Amino acid sequence: MAKPASTLSRQVDAVGSWIDQRIPISSFWKAHISEYYAPKNFNIMYFFGSLAMLVLVNQIVTGIFLTMHYKPDAAEAFASVEYIMRDVEWGWLIRYMHSTGASFFFIVVYLHMFRALMYGSYKSPRELVWILGVFIYLVLMAEAFLGYVLPWGQMSYWGAQVIVSLFGALPVIGDPLVEWIRGDFFISDATLNRFFALHVVALPLALIMLVVLHLAALHEVGSNNPDGVEIKKNKDAQGRPLDGIPFHPYYTVKDIFGVGVFLTLFAFVIFYAPEFGGYFLEKDNFVEANPQVTPQHIVPVWYFTPYYAILRGVPDKLLGVLLMGAAVMILFLMPWLDRSKVRSIRYKGWGSKIMLAVFAVTFIRLGMLGVAEGTTAETIETRFWTFMYFAFFALMPFISKYEKTKPVPERVTS
Ligand code: HEM
Repeated sequence: MAKPASTLSRQVDAVGSWIDQRIPISSFWKAHISEYYAPKNFNIMYFFGSLAMLVLVNQIVTGIFLTMHYKPDAAEAFASVEYIMRDVEWGWLIRYMHSTGASFFFIVVYLHMFRALMYGSYKSPRELVWILGVFIYLVLMAEAFLGYVLPWGQMSYWGAQVIVSLFGALPVIGDPLVEWIRGDFFISDATLNRFFALHVVALPLALIMLVVLHLAALHEVGSNNPDGVEIKKNKDAQGRPLDGIPFHPYYTVKDIFGVGVFLTLFAFVIFYAPEFGGYFLEKDNFVEANPQVTPQHIVPVWYFTPYYAILRGVPDKLLGVLLMGAAVMILFLMPWLDRSKVRSIRYKGWGSKIMLAVFAVTFIRLGMLGVAEGTTAETIETRFWTFMYFAFFALMPFISKYEKTKPVPERVTS
């Protein structure tokens, strides 16, 4: 016989249903968590979406604490960061969680995007999930760039100088646009102030809104999976997908495992190599910004270097800027460039498999060349990989359409 509910649990239930009649928390929980049916064949490549959310929260929380001690003033910014590192209780940890967090954000997002490329998650009906993702990526790059200026070190200053002056390559509007962005005739206190406002308020808000839309779009059409099979095609008598399992508890538990592994790695880097040999925080940035002294090599942080290599490889500034912009913008077209009958790389032909592998090598090699000194040999090599980068997108419509694909199973494989 069922035990009668205790008075306390009845009271809790009553409060719960009172709230629920006014704001639909339990139906939201059901629709998006406990009764959101996700394909049962997710593999480790599906960890990175939830990890991206974790890092986003980490950036926001540590960012709030940094803001309590940081001074957005050209005369005080550098010293305030040193103060956080040396005098604020646990300040060093908060700062490293934020700066290492930025690099981990990009590692996670790059793997998340690569997963989408592997399994064709950008293809119909998930075009908007992908497009919102590319917007997130753009905002994330802007957010990281602005954040890097805030410590007001040499790299902050000169990096900002190089990137902002790129807009000057645009004909007619170039020079006034650069001045408008800087708010001055050079990178100055006014620039730092507006970059701070954008970094701590405007762009985080935009990111959060985009992530909400990204997930709303995903839940509308349902998740893809490593087989690229549409699980909504096969449902049981209750209308539940036969190859789906409730997100909670099955994937919440799986994601917690991913979070555990991630946090272990994250903590290891924070405690033993927070600057990662100058890749996560460049050595020059531990010297205060000095408009009179240009550092020997001005290179952006690693996550921008593939694009920076493309920019540097082109002798003409305007053409370089346009090509660099095109390298990111072309991602928006992925859903229409891939004309394959199948989604997942598992069932695509050798052409697609080789192209994706070469694309991964291209992106990494361009990244390495972006931090290199830029000798003649390196510049020639950069041009080769830039060609390969665009070749991936240019060849895709043909290879994906005409190559021989394998038959896709009716149900997911486990
Ligand atoms: C703040 C950054 C981001 C967050 C928090 C985020 C979050 C998520 C989450 C939680 C999922 C569902 C779980 C999963 O499939 O792993 C997802 C799916 C997806 N995301 Fe993102 N995402 C981010 C950035 C991006 C970017 C930059 C892209 C691509 C340009 C992207 C493309 C996709 C696609 C295509 C899916 C569907 C995958 C599938 O169903 O196979 N996301 N995202």
